[in-house]
Amino acid sequence: MIKNFNDTLQQDLKNAIQNNIHKKIKPGIDYIPVTGKVLNETDILYGLDATADAWLTTGRYAKEFELKFKHFFGARSCLLVNSGSSANLLAFYTLTSPKLGKDAIQPDDEIITVAAGFPTTINPLIQFGCVPVFLDINVNTGNIDTNLLQEALTPKTKAVILAHTLGNPFNLEVISNFCKQHHLWLIEDNCDALGATYNHKLTGTFGHLATFSFYPAHHITMGEGGAVIVNDHRLVKIAESFRDWGRDCYCEPGKDNTCGCRFTQQFGNLPEGYDHKYVYSHIGFNLKLTDMQAAIGLSQFNRIHFFIDKRRDNFSYLYHKLSHLQDYLILPEATPHADPSWFGFLISLKSGNSQQRQALQTYLEEQKIGTRLLFGGNLLCQPAYLNIKHRIVGELINTNFVMNCSFWLGVWPGLSHEHLDYMALKLSTYFI
Ligand SMILES: Cc1ncc(COP(=O)(O)O)c(C=O)c1O
Repeated sequence: MIKNFNDTLQQDLKNAIQNNIHKKIKPGIDYIPVTGKVLNETDILYGLDATADAWLTTGRYAKEFELKFKHFFGARSCLLVNSGSSANLLAFYTLTSPKLGKDAIQPDDEIITVAAGFPTTINPLIQFGCVPVFLDINVNTGNIDTNLLQEALTPKTKAVILAHTLGNPFNLEVISNFCKQHHLWLIEDNCDALGATYNHKLTGTFGHLATFSFYPAHHITMGEGGAVIVNDHRLVKIAESFRDWGRDCYCEPGKDNTCGCRFTQQFGNLPEGYDHKYVYSHIGFNLKLTDMQAAIGLSQFNRIHFFIDKRRDNFSYLYHKLSHLQDYLILPEATPHADPSWFGFLISLKSGNSQQRQALQTYLEEQKIGTRLLFGGNLLCQPAYLNIKHRIVGELINTNFVMNCSFWLGVWPGLSHEHLDYMALKLSTYFI
């Protein structure tokens, strides 16, 4: 390991890094982004160290990250991948493995989910030929309204796939019990909720699989990156196989004959003793990431508690500062029994329409305050989804309301109370 930032790097490289990672955002003068990364010198040093050993592909840093992450969650396994979307792809396809027999998800099976969210939570199931079954959400929590869950169930239902919206856990008690009772798979898209808890238990540990994103907007970053944690022992080798080209072999990169029977097995219609390294038991992908990404992520993960606490603190502070606007705005609410790890601060106009929401967003952007929509709004209204096979249970009234009247503000750890004061002041001035 490169030992020390000061001793190791030449002055010009050091200056470049320091200028880039210690940029100050002055409220009213600089744009306040809705998300951002908080890097330090050690993160960069880890990335440089991973580069310096010239291994480049998944290696020792990825291994260490996977081990630490797995222990953090008490999971069976952690698999690093190259994005949160890849994590969702991997988690879903794992459940389609023929090795799962009658429990494997098949095309035309139904998957319960919501339409208010990020597209790649549900894209894999559509790509595979399954049918998404959409329920409505609650406006305050941004999460699934579970009232019609039983109505959504048919003999074709195989899984529930949901994200913890903007870091706020969905009702894990109801959803977990429903899945257990009806023998359904559960994937938690935990991309926006690293560190959130429900009944004091980390989100990501309830589902059979859970996914994470390490894109710069997220709680920790490695540029691009993601992870799947596997909580069900039956799925560990299957997930590895789908991530690593579909291979049957489970040797780490650079290793051979981990199974001890590389040339003595027989698979499919292959000749006896065909090299296990080139045996494929799934129609898989290559979703691995580089060790430079893993190294930066590992260094970031060492500060995870600071990142989570700062997001929570920023959320509470902003909530307090905006609470006098509740005649005009619906403020976000934590799901009962949950301690969210906030990704963003969801705000809805109490009454209004999309033009009024857009006017407010435009005003805030002019004041140099970043805003974002709740991702795709109602995904069914998006051009790509107009003709997908799907079912809706009940009506998507709140989903449409959020598409028209909601947006979110940042609470990322690079923001201080000074930034939040400015954001609250500008919102207040708009309404009062
Ligand atoms: C809930 C959710 N799932 C998945 C993703 C995809 O993550 P990535 O951008 O790393 O592919 C995102 C992206 O922000 C997300 O918000």
